[in-house]
Amino acid sequence: MDKLLSNGFSDGPLPEGYVFPPELRPGDLKIPLGTKIPVIDLNEAQNGDRTNTAHKIIKAAEEFGFFQVINHGISENEMKEAVSVFKELFEMPAEEKQKLCTDDPSKTCKMFTSSVNYATEKVHLWRDNFRHPCHPLEQWQHLWPEKPNTYRECVGSFSVQVKNLASRILSLISEGLGLKSGYFENDLTGSMVLSINHYPPCPEPSLALGITKHADPNLITILLLDDVCGLQVLKDGNWISVEPIPNAFVINIGYQLQIISNGKLISAEHRAVTNSCATRTSAAFFIAPSDECIIEPAEAITDEHHPPIFKSFKYKDFNSYYFAKYGDTNKVLKAFEAQS
Ligand code: OGA
Ligand code: NI
Repeated sequence: MDKLLSNGFSDGPLPEGYVFPPELRPGDLKIPLGTKIPVIDLNEAQNGDRTNTAHKIIKAAEEFGFFQVINHGISENEMKEAVSVFKELFEMPAEEKQKLCTDDPSKTCKMFTSSVNYATEKVHLWRDNFRHPCHPLEQWQHLWPEKPNTYRECVGSFSVQVKNLASRILSLISEGLGLKSGYFENDLTGSMVLSINHYPPCPEPSLALGITKHADPNLITILLLDDVCGLQVLKDGNWISVEPIPNAFVINIGYQLQIISNGKLISAEHRAVTNSCATRTSAAFFIAPSDECIIEPAEAITDEHHPPIFKSFKYKDFNSYYFAKYGDTNKVLKAFEAQS
């Protein structure tokens, strides 16, 4: 296994195993710049206008399922350092990266190429990935890579700040939805996994994909992007391109928040396309419920006129269903609807 693209395997023509069938190919990569995902200034909430900020976030989450946040309190310097340590990780010698690759499905800290289903998937993804849990920090940090030398310290303090940012955003979301404050400060946010994507230049960007169309299974995702475009979001049946804003984070609603909000907030489908010139790095912090956590539409927003449209279930059951059906987005939410 482990033909990591970052080990030089990405040079030369596109191997057949990466060619998607025509209906799944990214198509015209020159999406006209038009609709953009909303940008939310978190400074506003700090300076007294919380209600207005909460309202803007809810609107963005209803219409797009995606938004960017600026003035979020995490320093420019720390964001830069995090992006460079993520890039450094994939630039390490092959032997060093091999130590992080494993076939053991029980290992939570692992590097691989394409997806964990490399052996059985029909088409490979044009990306390498490294992922590991990062909350609670004391439980996981000692399992992280020893190289790059700064990895544990830099990613450790960055993760704590991202967790804190997620809490601030979720608290605005709970206010905007009319839920009690602290609604998400429990098992609903018991876990956080960092997933780092490395997309090398691709010889045929119109035939391949970095990540296929999907929506995130967790509660909410905080994405750190570098300055290379590649993320696209499906909005009313059209793909729109996310233009990275310096020092912003991209936030997206996961399926669990769609379910808890009883369908008010949407978990939008998105994908990562490739390009032929620049390496792109992205880091997704997946904030998720604990395995045993019970998920259901919030009682405070359901009543006889707005009955729950989703069932009550354990997060781990949703998660296993999601990974079994990965790629079949229509089926996932359907299976958890109230009448199914
Ligand atoms: C993801 C994801 C997008 C990106 O990791 O779930 O959607 O831009 N990543 O890499
Ligand atoms: Ni995603």
